[in-house]
Amino acid sequence: MNQEELQIISKALVSSGKGILAADESSNTCKKRFDSVGIECTEETRRKYRGLLFTSPGASEFMSGVIFYDETFWQSSDEDQTFPKYLEINNIIPGIKVDKGLINLPGFPGEKLTQGLDGLPEQMIKYADAGAKFAKWRSVIAIGENIPTEECIKSNAFVLARYARICQDTGIVPIVEPEVLFDGTHTIEQSEQTLAKTYEILFKTMQEMRVFMPGAILKTSMVLPGKDSGAEINHDDTAKRTVRVLHEHVPQDLGGVVFLSGGQKSNDAFINLNRIAKLGPHPWGVTFSYSRALQDPVLKLWAKDRENKKAVQDLFLNQLRLAGAASLGELDESELHDNTEATKSQDL
Ligand code: 13P
Repeated sequence: MNQEELQIISKALVSSGKGILAADESSNTCKKRFDSVGIECTEETRRKYRGLLFTSPGASEFMSGVIFYDETFWQSSDEDQTFPKYLEINNIIPGIKVDKGLINLPGFPGEKLTQGLDGLPEQMIKYADAGAKFAKWRSVIAIGENIPTEECIKSNAFVLARYARICQDTGIVPIVEPEVLFDGTHTIEQSEQTLAKTYEILFKTMQEMRVFMPGAILKTSMVLPGKDSGAEINHDDTAKRTVRVLHEHVPQDLGGVVFLSGGQKSNDAFINLNRIAKLGPHPWGVTFSYSRALQDPVLKLWAKDRENKKAVQDLFLNQLRLAGAASLGELDESELHDNTEATKSQDL
């Protein structure tokens, strides 16, 4: 394992004022998103849309990396350059989602395990040879009646830790993502307790499986009341609790912390990140790794006007600029106008 190289990549991914675009929605999830705005979802429309995002002029000022889905990783821009190559040349780090999605955890109704470890070392070598510098694996922890169970958290932590060590042996920085779902009727206290328990088990397991902490990144949910709980999001409370649970349970030498948006409205995801950053300094670089919060309004605009490349890219750049400012705690919140609707997190 080249520890120095892993640390350089981790640091670059969370470098000041920049964050990660998650564009790794599976084709099924992409279809749901495209259906919702009336766009036909084909290999070519997915390539076109994502290509617009990646090639937005000026994006590298705010975008440290992009997480690809396997299909996109092997596709090319209109200029016939593979997307990972295009990013590399433009100083943006290419990453790849490597898990194979969720299955039911047998014996534990309502709980999920993420699959994809079989054949992963060989697959990882192919991605590394083609330019991937980091990877993502998403596990899901749901909050509900009598869940999550410790067995579910442990099972997912074990798989995340095994994946992380496989990545590092190939020179790839693992993003470990134990997503505590926003969906549900739980309280903000339950969200905080679940994140605390999840981090505690995850990092203990990662240590045991000999993961090199400075060469790994945590992708995490924020502490929020369940989306269907009826409680409004209180940005300061979310920021305070999120910072508390991170500072108390995440190793100080970890390579970085990035947030998912989880189906929050874009503006909530930006404001919460802004308030979290303001509560710094933090022991690690802290930034965004958003899919929906960055993309929702952009996809809507593209659906309305497929020919107006400039307007779509300008809007995407503005979303990145807002998120980049939020990651520094420098977002002027009065700039935020209308909000996009919250969306469901299941089956990403
Ligand atoms: P959202 O920001 O839409 O939650 O997606 C981030 C992600 O990559 C989830 O795995």
